[in-house]
Amino acid sequence: MSKVNILKLLTKKQQQEKFAVVTCYDASFAKVVEKAGIDAILVGDSLGMVLQGRDSTLPVTIEDMSYHTACVARGCDQPLIISDMPFGSYNTPQQCADNAATLMRAGAHMIKIEGGSWLGDSITLLNQAGIPVCGHLGLTPQSVNVLGGYRVQGRDDSQAKAILADAVALEAAGAAMLVLECVPRKLATEISATLKIPVIGIGAGNGTDAQVLVLHDLLGITEKTARFVRNFAEGSNGVEDALKRYNSAVVDGSFPADEHSFD
Ligand code: KIV
Ligand code: NA
Repeated sequence: MSKVNILKLLTKKQQQEKFAVVTCYDASFAKVVEKAGIDAILVGDSLGMVLQGRDSTLPVTIEDMSYHTACVARGCDQPLIISDMPFGSYNTPQQCADNAATLMRAGAHMIKIEGGSWLGDSITLLNQAGIPVCGHLGLTPQSVNVLGGYRVQGRDDSQAKAILADAVALEAAGAAMLVLECVPRKLATEISATLKIPVIGIGAGNGTDAQVLVLHDLLGITEKTARFVRNFAEGSNGVEDALKRYNSAVVDGSFPADEHSFD
């Protein structure tokens, strides 16, 4: 595998080749993820739950994200590294640009922010500063208190239209990729077909350009997982084999199956 960049992933979308993304928070796992041939790593603020044992992502800080981004960046050379901007770190475009620069200095190649069209000015500023942006729509865990729980988004028509409109607005503002979390498969498929940028799904069905899962979920470490997760450790010969199986299942389209998707 050679070094992955945003053009390589854009080309994959254009050639209808699916790719896998996995979360990762440290150097040792980053090395295994790279050996498994996975194109991109998300240093997710899910580390608040997975590593820190919290019950939401809200307490995670920019220092936490910067530390784990640096750990991941030391462990691998080839995967594209996307780092989450944590809750409260991108309330204004200037604050967003300053904190995003911290993550880029730590080794990120792209940052991810949760939210819709209101992030347009921040995305423009980050692009001007040389920082590519991944959007995140649907279930946005940093807004769990606004959403009233971790639930599927976009099931009714007007909600679905609003998510599609936000996706179009993020792309127009200059987003380079988009994560769609917990939305009906039909909506995710429509958004993926509408946008030119790669769309990465989680709990969004098999019509997206890519998939992402939380590392500890796909390795079967997490106690109670969501419906959209598959335990790739089952029947695998170690961690690298489990990650290879995840990668192949995404690339060949066998994951996610119907049972992992929402209607
Ligand atoms: O923090 C995270 O792990 C994420 C993915 C679940 C998309 O944002
Ligand atoms: Na996240």
